[in-house]
Amino acid sequence: MEPATEISSTIGSKEAVFNFPEGVVNPGDVVIIPTPGYPPYTRGTLFAEGVPYYVPLLPENNFLIDLKSIPDEICKKAKILWINYPNSPSGAIAPLSYLKEVVEFGQRNNIIIASDEAYSEIYFKEPPHSILEVTKEGVIVFNSFSKRSAMTCYRVGWVAGDKRIIDLFKKVKTNVDSGTATFIQDGAVAALSDETHVEKMREEYRIKRDVLVEAFRRIRLPDCTPEATIYLWQKVPQGMTSVDFAKKLLSPEIAIVTTPGAWISDKTANGLNPGEGYVRFALVPSIKNTKEAAKRIIKLLPKALLT
Ligand SMILES: Cc1ncc(COP(=O)(O)O)c(C=O)c1O
Repeated sequence: MEPATEISSTIGSKEAVFNFPEGVVNPGDVVIIPTPGYPPYTRGTLFAEGVPYYVPLLPENNFLIDLKSIPDEICKKAKILWINYPNSPSGAIAPLSYLKEVVEFGQRNNIIIASDEAYSEIYFKEPPHSILEVTKEGVIVFNSFSKRSAMTCYRVGWVAGDKRIIDLFKKVKTNVDSGTATFIQDGAVAALSDETHVEKMREEYRIKRDVLVEAFRRIRLPDCTPEATIYLWQKVPQGMTSVDFAKKLLSPEIAIVTTPGAWISDKTANGLNPGEGYVRFALVPSIKNTKEAAKRIIKLLPKALLT
C-alpha cells in the first residue's frame, strides 16, 4: 500500500464509518447494510441522506450476506455495500472465496465495498482474511486499535484501499476534524510494533469464550462458539423473545447484562428482524467474573426460565 495516498489515520473507526458516506452518497442513493450490524453504518447513511437497504445475517448462510438476494433495482441505486468480518455480533469470519464474490459483486454493480475489519486480530484459530488480499480496487477497509490493543479511549484507527476512495474519505475528514494527535499516533505505532499483548488478549478472550460456551452446553442451549470477536451470539430458548431472555439474565440473583438481539438489528424489507431470538454476550468482564457468570448460568438460569 502507498501510505500517502492509500492509507489514512482516523479518530477510531466510528468517526470513519459514520463520515465516509458523506463523501460518496448523494440524497436518495442506497447503502446496503447487514443486519444485525454496527449502528453507524445506518446513521452515517441517514446523515448523508442515503437510504439503508438491510440484508439479514442468518445462521443458514453462516452469517454471510446472501448477495444473490439483493434485488437488481437496489444494486442499480446502491453506492456502498458494508461488510463486517470478523462479524459483530455473530463472531463469523468470511472465507477468502466469499470475499472474492463480494469484490466481483461490487465491480459488476459499480458499488464500493466498505469492509469494517475492526475485529481482524481477535480470532481463535487461523487469522481471518482481509478483503485487501483480494484487491484494493473499489474497496475501502476500516480498522481500529480499539480491539487489537484495547486502545478504545485513545481514539485511533485507519482506513486503507483504493486511492480514489481514500481521497474522497479524506476530503470529508479534512472538513470534520484535524487528524489524530501525533502523540496518539506514536502510541499506535508502539502498539503495532508488539504482538505479545495481542496474543495474550486473544488467549484471555478464548478462555472466557470457552467458559461461557460450556455453561450454555450444560443447560442445553444451542452451541454458538464464535470463530472470532469478543461476542457470543447465543440463541435463546425456544418460545422466548430476546428481551425475555435478557430480562431473566438480569434478574438480581443472576445479574448478567446482555444485549437483546432484537435491539441491535434492523428489520429487513420483508419485516424480518434477524436479531430476534438471540442475545449478545460481550466477553469484557474479567476471567474470574466470567467464571462466576458461568456458574450462575448453570445453577440459577434453568430455574429462572421455569418461572
Ligand atoms: C463492528 C465495529 N466496527 C467498528 C467499531 C468502532 O471502534 P472504534 O471507533 O473504537 O475504532 C466497533 C466498536 O465497537 C465495532 O463493533
